[in-house]
Amino acid sequence: SMLAAAHENDIELEVSGACEGSLACSTCHVIVMDMEYYNKLEDPTDEENDMLDLAFGLTETSRLGCQIV
Ligand code: FES
Repeated sequence: SMLAAAHENDIELEVSGACEGSLACSTCHVIVMDMEYYNKLEDPTDEENDMLDLAFGLTETSRLGCQIV
């Protein structure tokens, strides 16, 4: 699961998940601290990137928590 993966990979996790994973918010913004883990993830979709643009404190390794499992 995302949570288990986050614990294993030192992801800064502050997921509130207002839209429950339907890519309609950016409250589940996470910053992946581990480059190796980040590179293993599927690339973000255009929809995810659009939401990420709205996320506060966007970084190179930002993702939406609900989209990475
Ligand atoms: Fe809203 Fe992830 S919970 S985009």
